Amino acid sequence: MRHLLSTRELARDEAIALLDIAEDMAAVQHREVKKLPTLRGKTVVNLFFEDSTRTRISFEAAAKRLSADVINFSAKGSSVSKGESLKDTAQTLQAMGADGVVIRHPSSGAPYTLATSGWIDAGVVNAGDGTHEHPTQALLDAFTMRSRLHGAASRGRGLDGVRVVIVGDILHSRVARSNVWLLATLGAEVTLVAPPTLVPVDTGGWPASVVFDLDEALASGPDVVMMLRIQAERMHGAFFPNSREYARTWGLDDARFSQLPTATMVMHPGPMNRGLEISALAADSAQSTVREQVANGVSVRMAALYLLLSSERGEA
Ligand code: CP
Repeated sequence: MRHLLSTRELARDEAIALLDIAEDMAAVQHREVKKLPTLRGKTVVNLFFEDSTRTRISFEAAAKRLSADVINFSAKGSSVSKGESLKDTAQTLQAMGADGVVIRHPSSGAPYTLATSGWIDAGVVNAGDGTHEHPTQALLDAFTMRSRLHGAASRGRGLDGVRVVIVGDILHSRVARSNVWLLATLGAEVTLVAPPTLVPVDTGGWPASVVFDLDEALASGPDVVMMLRIQAERMHGAFFPNSREYARTWGLDDARFSQLPTATMVMHPGPMNRGLEISALAADSAQSTVREQVANGVSVRMAALYLLLSSERGEA
C-alpha cells in the first residue's frame, strides 16, 4: 500500500488485512513495553491544517510506538498564515526527511493532490479532508464493531449482515462517507438517518439506504447506532432545523437510548455535542464504545503506518 486516501478504494481483503494487523498492534498495547522497532529511522509528519484532538494525537502515539520520529505541524502559527502554499509547505517538510505525511485539510481532495502531484515522495495518509473522507476513522470504527461482536474470533472476518444505523449531519460528514464505503465492503447493511436538509444530493450511488425518521430506524433494533456530530463550523449559519428541534427529532436522547436493545452498540467518532446529538446517559453507558474507539484508533493507525512505511513490507 503506497497511500491511504479513502475507504472507497479499499478492497475487502485489503481492509480485513489492515484490521488483522491492527489486532496485532492492539496486543502490543497490552504489553509492558508498548514499542516496536518497525519504523526506526523513519520520519512521520503530522500535517494538520484543521483542528484535531483524537486523530493527531493517536497518529503521533502510533508513529512513536513504531519507533518512528514524529514532526507535528499545525497550520496555526506557521507560515501558512503568510500565504505559503500546500506545495511549498509539503516540500519544506519533505526536505526535512519526511517518509510519511499524515494530512488533515479543510479542502476535499488535498491528500489526493499531495499523493499524486509528484511534489513529494512520501506515503500519504488522509486524516480527514473537507467533507470527503476520513478513512482511518472508519477503519477504527469497523475494528471496534468487529471486536465487540466477535472478540477473540475477529481475525479474518468482515461485518457480514451487521445492521448499522448512522445518524446526523451526513451532509458534512467525512466520517459517514468513509464508513458507508467501508462497511458495505465488509458486508454490513447501512441505513443513514438525517433531516432532509443534512443529506447530500448524491446518495443515490451510495451503498446505503436513507430514511428521515429516527424512531422508525431504531425500532428494528440495529446492531450499531453511530451518532454523528453536528458540524456547526461548516453550516455557515444555515443550520436547519434548530438545535432544540434537532435534539428532539434526531438526537439519541435518554428515552430513545432506553428503548434500544442492550446489545446495540452506541458509537460516536467524537468530539461529541452532548445534549444535541447524544445524551450523557447514552454516551457514558456500557453500550457506548466512544472510549474504545479512541483506544482502537492507535492500533489501527499503527497498522496503517506499518503498511505504508515498513521496509519489511517493500512496496506490497
Ligand atoms: N474523530 C475525529 O476525527 O476527532 P478529532 O477531530 O479530534 O481528530
